[in-house]
Amino acid sequence: MTTTITENEKLTQPTFDPRELRSAFGQFVTGVTIATSRDLDGSLIGMTANSFSSVSMDPPLLMFCPASHLPSLPAFERAGHFAINILAASQGELAKHFARPSENKFAGVDYSSGIFGAPVINGSVATFECTLFASHDAGDHKILIGEIHDFVANPESRALVFHRGKMVTNHNERKSHE
Ligand SMILES: Cc1cc2nc3c(=O)[nH]c(=O)nc-3n(C[C@H](O)[C@H](O)[C@H](O)COP(=O)(O)O)c2cc1C
Repeated sequence: MTTTITENEKLTQPTFDPRELRSAFGQFVTGVTIATSRDLDGSLIGMTANSFSSVSMDPPLLMFCPASHLPSLPAFERAGHFAINILAASQGELAKHFARPSENKFAGVDYSSGIFGAPVINGSVATFECTLFASHDAGDHKILIGEIHDFVANPESRALVFHRGKMVTNHNERKSHE
């Protein structure tokens, strides 16, 4: 069958149902993080994000993608630094808490202050402390890339898992396939 230009043009202009696209993205199993920072005026910011990924070993880089409309976004960019806290299976309530806007998200939260002042959430399975390496526009989100200056990891504790729009706290211990 001959492909016409009109058909090609259609291919470059996708008209997906956003709910179906979101649901397809949800097939990918992720962990859950809380990205934190300290704004220039000292106020603390934090948001739940599962768009985290490692990026590079040399230099050591990672990324996450906040939506462009989020109230926290300008503060992350102004501060020029952030921490990524990878949550433990026991921290599901914390993930929900940091996924809702609120005046003082850190009231009652167990955290310490990181090397750049961003909150490091105690009990996380790993925390990475970064300076802002780059910020890229990406549709209705931004890609914030951080250069890692310090990190801690607790390989003994189990991570919180996010799959098909739900938090999974009781996933089985990983079986080795090595
Ligand atoms: C499991 C989970 C993952 C999320 N991941 C992201 C993400 O990667 N990027 C994003 O912009 N929002 C994400 N959100 C939504 C934000 O956490 C939510 O909009 C939050 O209110 C943002 O904080 P703010 O309102 O203080 O700016 C996620 C929510 C949940 C529950």
